[in-house]
Amino acid sequence: MNETPVESQAVTADAGQAVASADAVDIQLRPATATDVRSLATVLAEAFFEDPIFNWLIPDDAFRLARSRRFFAIGLRHMALARGRVWTSNDLLGAALSMPPGAWRVPPRAVLLQGTCFGRHFARGGRLLAAMEYGHTRRPHYYLVDIGVTPHAQGRGFGSALMRPTLDRCDHEGLPAYLEASSEPNAALYERLGFRITRELRVAGSPPLRLMLRPPDPSPGDS
Ligand SMILES: CC(C)(COP(=O)(O)OP(=O)(O)OC[C@H]1O[C@@H](n2cnc3c(N)ncnc32)[C@H](O)[C@@H]1OP(=O)(O)O)[C@@H](O)C(=O)NCCC(=O)NCCS
Repeated sequence: MNETPVESQAVTADAGQAVASADAVDIQLRPATATDVRSLATVLAEAFFEDPIFNWLIPDDAFRLARSRRFFAIGLRHMALARGRVWTSNDLLGAALSMPPGAWRVPPRAVLLQGTCFGRHFARGGRLLAAMEYGHTRRPHYYLVDIGVTPHAQGRGFGSALMRPTLDRCDHEGLPAYLEASSEPNAALYERLGFRITRELRVAGSPPLRLMLRPPDPSPGDS
């Protein structure tokens, strides 16, 4: 089931709270298409280069960028563009991948393909993906699979803006949103957007992954 198409949206993000050098930025959002896969896989791989979970799965700096680029290309092609929605900005500075209710499970073919990206840590990846699937909420929800912003544009409101169409849709349909946060700063950002930690997941010495659920806002638009 695809999310119904939405016209591109302009989001003005006041990043005055983010980093000292950031000005208010005008972020033009649009749904990504298959022609964006290469660029967005690169942006996501760069965004996740310092991520604790990706460092644990692909510890060798020399391989991480290329392998995580392949990981994200698989996720974009086989999951989010096939059955969900990918929001990006007109200048492709980031992406938010989401799946609609009932489509959150990673298809077996994608699990296998993504597993090969972890090289000799294939077993770690398998254990983590299995635990993520086991711990995943069973309530109908929208699943924010991955969110990443190219490093030089982080802290200027892009991440929040990229999640906004999915969160608005959740509020409109009265459904929760779900994601896994891989670091404390990310969890803090998600908490500001209304997510709450439901559980912390760790497998075989992995860094913690915080499972987070956001109830729908019954009065979207009110402040
Ligand atoms: C997490 C991420 C998508 C947020 O996007 P963003 O455009 O930086 O976020 P926003 O500007 O809307 O919000 C900034 C907030 O995000 C959080 N944040 C997390 N990582 C950050 C980073 N590397 N730089 C700046 N802010 C970061 C902070 O809480 C920050 O709040 P603050 O302004 O009070 O310090 C982005 O930082 C990113 O791509 N990080 C690396 C990949 C990643 O961790 N993805 C999420 C996995 S769960």
